[in-house]
Amino acid sequence: MIHPKPSDVPAISDFNKLLDGRVAVVTGGGSQGIGGAIATLFAQHGALVEIADIDAKRAQESAATITAAGGKARAHVLDVTRPDEADRLAQAVLSHHGRCDVLVNNVGDYRPLVPFAKSGPASWEAMIRINLLHFYAVTHAFLGSMIEKRRGSIVNVHSVEGMRGYPCEPVYGSLKAASAHFTTCLAAEQGRNGIRVNGIGPDLTQTPQVDYISGFEEASDLWPSWAPVGRLGWPEDQARVALFLASDMSAFVTGHNIPVDGGTRAGSGWIWSPKEGRFVNRPRHI
Ligand SMILES: NC(=O)c1ccc[n+]([C@@H]2O[C@H](COP(=O)([O-])OP(=O)(O)OC[C@H]3O[C@@H](n4cnc5c(N)ncnc54)[C@H](O)[C@@H]3O)[C@@H](O)[C@H]2O)c1
Repeated sequence: MIHPKPSDVPAISDFNKLLDGRVAVVTGGGSQGIGGAIATLFAQHGALVEIADIDAKRAQESAATITAAGGKARAHVLDVTRPDEADRLAQAVLSHHGRCDVLVNNVGDYRPLVPFAKSGPASWEAMIRINLLHFYAVTHAFLGSMIEKRRGSIVNVHSVEGMRGYPCEPVYGSLKAASAHFTTCLAAEQGRNGIRVNGIGPDLTQTPQVDYISGFEEASDLWPSWAPVGRLGWPEDQARVALFLASDMSAFVTGHNIPVDGGTRAGSGWIWSPKEGRFVNRPRHI
């Protein structure tokens, strides 16, 4: 049994490219969103990126931008909520590269927001398809090959709403919690096969799906009240954490879900009141 010591593994300064030569699949990796930033940063770190997105324009734009900058990327246009298309993606990647080293499950959507009392089987099913089932289908499609190679890092992008109470859409919140717990359970199952599984829970990140800028310009001075780090998040903020989890930098980390939320979960319930000049937890003080 070999237990490598920190002195046996490369020094941080040796990691010029954290994913050099690794094959990385990013679902929802089209341009502009969190997946697009992950695809771009992974390619900058030497990964051979395989982008899977339902939107042909965004998928091709993302791959073209990476390629134009000297990186390596291919675009696949498909719907990950269809298990047959997830299998088709795996076939295309595995027949081309012979392996998949990194899988980022990033597709998800909170829309439409349906209060639970007004929801029903049709809205539950739609939420389950877009926020949970494809985590199983895509992971299942690549897992066999990772087990065979005894190597893999899976990063699941869910939401901070799976890590705290989400009153706007309890079904969405519970499904994000399910994908976070799938992360933990799969990590426990697959660690001995050389596969690590971790998750990130975004919040407050400017993307086509969640626009925090338009219409909020006049209230931008409220960011210090809103988020403990005092600012909006960008897809690149998410991508940096995904890179850490995908790479050997986190070789001894598995089964964890990191809120990448500017501190909203940590500070939950407490906000900064500029008027009072102190933290408050009562609406009347704001
Ligand atoms: N932006 C935030 O602040 C925020 C907050 C919490 C959670 N999240 C989560 O982060 C992830 C990414 O969110 P985003 O804000 O970048 O979203 P986005 O909508 O901007 O990007 C999602 C990408 O997935 C693609 N996609 C959608 N359905 C697909 C399907 N069926 N098959 C293949 N591709 C599909 C879209 O075309 C798009 O390119 C989601 O899981 C979302 O729930 C984001």
